[in-house]
Amino acid sequence: MKHSKKEKSPMASLRLAFVLLISLVSPTSSCTQQEKICLLRFLAGLSQDGGLAASWRDGEDCCEWEGVTCGTDRAVAGVSLASKSLEGNISESLGSLDGLKLLDLSHNSLSGCLPRGLVSSPSIVVLDVSFNRLSGALHELPSSTPPRPLQVLNISSNSFTGMFPSTIWESMENLIALNGSNNSFTGQIPTHFCNGSPSFAVLDLSYNKLRGSIPRGLGDCSVLRVLNAGYNNLSGTLPDELFRATSLEHLSFRNNELHGVLDGAHIINLGNLVTLNLGRNNFSGKLPDSIGQLKRMEELYFDRNNMSGDLPSALSNCTNLITVDFKSNKFSGELNKVDFSNFPNLTTLDLLYNNFTGTIPESIYSCSKLIALRLSANNLHGQLSPKIGDSKHLAFLSLAFNSFVNITNALHILQNCRQLTILLIGDNFMAELMPEDDIIDGFQNLQVLDIGGCQLLGNMPFWISKLPNLQILNLANNQLTGSIPAWIKTLSNLFYLDISNNNLTEGIPTTLMDMPMLKLEKTKAHLDPRVFKLTIYTALSRQYRRLNAFPKVLDLSNNKFTGEIPWEIGQLKSLRSLNLSSNDLTGQLPQSICNLTSLLALDLSNNNLMGPIPSGLNSLHSLSAFNISKNDLEGPIPSGGQFNTFETSSFDGNARLCGSMLIQKCDSTEAPPATTMSKQRTGYKVAFMIAFSAFFVIGVLYDQVVLSKYFG
Ligand SMILES: *[C@@H]1O[C@H](CO)[C@@H](O)[C@H](O)[C@H]1NC(C)=O
Ligand SMILES: *[C@@H]1O[C@H](CO)[C@@H](O)[C@H](O)[C@H]1NC(C)=O
Ligand SMILES: *[C@@H]1O[C@H](CO)[C@@H](O)[C@H](O)[C@H]1NC(C)=O
Ligand SMILES: *[C@@H]1O[C@H](CO)[C@@H](O)[C@H](O)[C@H]1NC(C)=O
Ligand SMILES: *[C@@H]1O[C@H](CO)[C@@H](O)[C@H](O)[C@H]1NC(C)=O
Ligand SMILES: *[C@@H]1O[C@H](CO)[C@@H](O)[C@H](O)[C@H]1NC(C)=O
Ligand SMILES: *[C@@H]1O[C@H](CO)[C@@H](O)[C@H](O)[C@H]1NC(C)=O
Ligand SMILES: *[C@@H]1O[C@H](CO)[C@@H](O)[C@H](O)[C@H]1NC(C)=O
Ligand SMILES: *[C@@H]1O[C@H](CO)[C@@H](O)[C@H](O)[C@H]1NC(C)=O
Ligand SMILES: *[C@@H]1O[C@H](CO)[C@@H](O)[C@H](O)[C@H]1NC(C)=O
Ligand SMILES: *[C@@H]1O[C@H](CO)[C@@H](O)[C@H](O)[C@H]1NC(C)=O
Ligand SMILES: *[C@@H]1O[C@H](CO)[C@@H](O)[C@H](O)[C@H]1NC(C)=O
Repeated sequence: MKHSKKEKSPMASLRLAFVLLISLVSPTSSCTQQEKICLLRFLAGLSQDGGLAASWRDGEDCCEWEGVTCGTDRAVAGVSLASKSLEGNISESLGSLDGLKLLDLSHNSLSGCLPRGLVSSPSIVVLDVSFNRLSGALHELPSSTPPRPLQVLNISSNSFTGMFPSTIWESMENLIALNGSNNSFTGQIPTHFCNGSPSFAVLDLSYNKLRGSIPRGLGDCSVLRVLNAGYNNLSGTLPDELFRATSLEHLSFRNNELHGVLDGAHIINLGNLVTLNLGRNNFSGKLPDSIGQLKRMEELYFDRNNMSGDLPSALSNCTNLITVDFKSNKFSGELNKVDFSNFPNLTTLDLLYNNFTGTIPESIYSCSKLIALRLSANNLHGQLSPKIGDSKHLAFLSLAFNSFVNITNALHILQNCRQLTILLIGDNFMAELMPEDDIIDGFQNLQVLDIGGCQLLGNMPFWISKLPNLQILNLANNQLTGSIPAWIKTLSNLFYLDISNNNLTEGIPTTLMDMPMLKLEKTKAHLDPRVFKLTIYTALSRQYRRLNAFPKVLDLSNNKFTGEIPWEIGQLKSLRSLNLSSNDLTGQLPQSICNLTSLLALDLSNNNLMGPIPSGLNSLHSLSAFNISKNDLEGPIPSGGQFNTFETSSFDGNARLCGSMLIQKCDSTEAPPATTMSKQRTGYKVAFMIAFSAFFVIGVLYDQVVLSKYFG
């Protein structure tokens, strides 16, 4: 989430006040012995002081110590030790510094509890211990505690546990900002933040384990600007009272279990909203017309809910929109109700998995700052408009799983989008002819191209050879004929090639074995990470990591390839998955296949391969999926290594194979030496577990539909 600069103001102005205060100091007297003792106790509690001891020397005025600032009265007023590599405990003694107003220990590795005396200090105004390893609970204070001066409390990104305190805030009359996010607090969001603290402006409790409903009392926070309680387990609806907090600019309840219909009469009160993030909940019903009155809105997230109905044309009035994410809902109707030309600053529009109909509205192409457009998995139709070439910044375009027509036209137009990096247009253009012509020569930046699932006729087209940066190519599930062209090896960055389920013929060319990225043992940096930062995947951090680690894959399965598996296949040393199944391959398995030491999955099933299985295959320690069924192989199945883990179904349909796991046993002389085996078995088990989880990632990606979920 982005926040406006304004949010930092309480802290910033405070720090400024300190600087002004301190610059007036006359260096005549020094800090008291008592203060020195307190600070030295704090130092003693550290197991790693980041060099502090060099400056914190008993003989010197502690006002001169690193990170220590004193007020006009020479009392210690500030201790600022952010990012000093401190480790160890925070000593209780800091709470005894009577004049301490600012304590900043953020971005260290401090552990243990947060001493009670700091939060309840009668002097501290700003307490920042964020980004440490503090643990334990944050305790309630006795109800008799007098009002405290604390204005800013940042305890975020630690390991605090226990119930989030509720009564403590009653004595925090001056509280402006509270950030308790990214801990493991349980319990509920406290009801009474604002009865006592009229200036309360920022509350962030995201990334905890809070449950229960959203308290109505938050509606009393008349100056609350930021409310973020995303990534918890909150349930129920948005209480009507919440909409009384009319100062709200940033509101996020992302990733909870909230439900209900967004009330148009209420939402209208939050006219200051800049970001509204209700994604990953179970909200239903229509987007109210009054959303158009939230004119400051820049980021709107309703993704992964149960919303339905048309997008209201009033949305056109939110002219400041930058990001719109409505993916995975049940929205329907025509998109051209919305006038996208009103959104000059729109960079990301994600409408994946809805039920939108009609054509792509021309007005989308007037969004000259558009970087990412995802309309996949809807019911859109028609041809692409030449105006899409006006989107000069468009880097990510996914139109997959719709009913668009005229692929020739589409490619001619899209080549004018010079920044295009990822283009996913599969599952459209049903049974059209793959354009062959040489006029297509844009796409200089294209890294990912998916035209799978279109039943396209024709050959693998020559223009693909002119995509110098292509890294992932999916042409699976078409009806392409002819052979694999020799130019394939000129795609020097290609590391993922899926041409499965086509009608390709002839032998597997040896040029395929010269593909640079598949030969390289070292993994080069893959996809341009900038593309995935386009907020498309920021919320799905796991998927993002998966895409980074996208495996090297060669899938030629379900075609009509003939001839032998080339000996040179052994050169593709960094291949993680090789699938040559369901072709008409003949001859023996080349010994060199044992050189494919990175393989996690090898499928050669349903061919006419004969001869023995190379015994060296048992040295492929990462191999966790293996299938050579339905061939004509003979002799013993290799033993040991991963071969102890494969099911017999991996070998079915080879009448002349033998092995201990098959009904047909080999001669006793073929049995493996038992002693070395048992010694190594645990190691293999571990390797198998690791390989299996890695394979799961690939296995998921094998599936065309699931692939499109991540990429589509
Ligand atoms: C930190 O506090 C814990 C108990 O809370 C104690 O066991 C540990 O020794 C302390 N570490 C240091 C460096 O003082
Ligand atoms: C802690 O939170 C306060 C208030 O939101 C903020 O001003 C400060 O910069 C934060 N500290 C860090 C290290 O981000
Ligand atoms: C709270 O702190 C986290 C880091 O711990 C930060 O990412 C977040 O932006 C902060 N919230 C606010 C509202 O400043
Ligand atoms: C949560 O805290 C951990 C550890 O301090 C940090 O690495 C991570 O970036 C934080 N996450 C967020 C969302 O602030
Ligand atoms: C969230 O709360 C619901 C009940 O409200 C419960 O069924 C679910 O297990 C909880 N989820 C987590 C992750 O605690
Ligand atoms: C989401 O809400 C719908 C009704 O709108 C309900 O049928 C469904 O069970 C809810 N799903 C979850 C996961 O709570
Ligand atoms: C946009 O706002 C204006 C006035 O603020 C209003 O007249 C107009 O009807 C609104 N447009 C839509 C499409 O709601
Ligand atoms: C678009 O963004 C620019 C710069 O960020 C800003 O000055 C302008 O007001 C915005 N335009 C609209 C219509 O929101
Ligand atoms: C999508 O809309 C069509 C009519 O336009 C309708 O027949 C179909 O049931 C809808 N699908 C879903 C999942 O709502
Ligand atoms: C498809 O696009 C091409 C090139 O833009 C055009 O010449 C052709 O007429 C279009 N075909 C149909 C059926 O519209
Ligand atoms: C591709 O092969 C399938 C089955 O082998 C056949 O039905 C289809 O007609 C073929 N298509 C072409 C274009 O050759
Ligand atoms: C397989 O590796 C061995 C040893 O590294 C090497 O001698 C042999 O030529 C390789 N075979 C192929 C086909 O790469």
